[in-house]
Amino acid sequence: MSEKLTIYPSLLAADFGNLETACRTVKTSGADGIHLDVMDGHFVPNLSMGPQVVEMASRVEGLHLNTHLMVTHPQNLVQSFIDAGSHTILIHIEADCDVKQVLSTIKAAGCRTGITLNPATPASSITDILDVVDEVLCMTVVPGFGGQSFMPEVLPKIAEIRAALTARSLPADIMVDGGINAETGAQCVAAGANILVAGTFLFRSSDMAAEIENMRSVAAGS
Ligand code: DX5
Ligand code: ZN
Repeated sequence: MSEKLTIYPSLLAADFGNLETACRTVKTSGADGIHLDVMDGHFVPNLSMGPQVVEMASRVEGLHLNTHLMVTHPQNLVQSFIDAGSHTILIHIEADCDVKQVLSTIKAAGCRTGITLNPATPASSITDILDVVDEVLCMTVVPGFGGQSFMPEVLPKIAEIRAALTARSLPADIMVDGGINAETGAQCVAAGANILVAGTFLFRSSDMAAEIENMRSVAAGS
């Protein structure tokens, strides 16, 4: 686990008429990269973006691309998101695939790997893959849409996964996604998260850089 708090604005909340500008704003705002939400209209009841958007974001030099696949069959899509320039690719434990196989494809391509749990999915569902992932993403909303309210009932699961990682001396990061702002982000950090994804909160603010700094200082005080 890296010591520094990592913050990824989620492009889903950006103005889709100006996506490249949004990526450049993220790059200059002190964020650690950008979170790209891929939805297939099946795993979640919404469609969002495909590999072309990830490829567009890859043109912003030095921008870490954290790709979150909310799709039923990641095995059919993962290669196109590797080819598009993703640095990290996260799949869901609830997906219809051989999870370990897909994670190993991602890793073999030189990308960081992540496993994601929906709010209702227990920590025990990932016990046997904690040692093969770089990131564990605990959804703090039911995925599919930006702008939803944070679910505080996920906090004990974050603490449970952090305790399991610590007990096994495993280095995985814990990320949270959904309804994150300075206050809810700090609650997640106190529970054991070290990567915060924030869409609406950062893209609707008038000064993303100042809000990112604020998130870091509120979390540091937690
Ligand atoms: C939800 C997505 C999130 C979303 C978060 O399905 O996975 O990444 O963009 O948006 P906010 O921060 O607006 O809840
Ligand atoms: Zn996401």
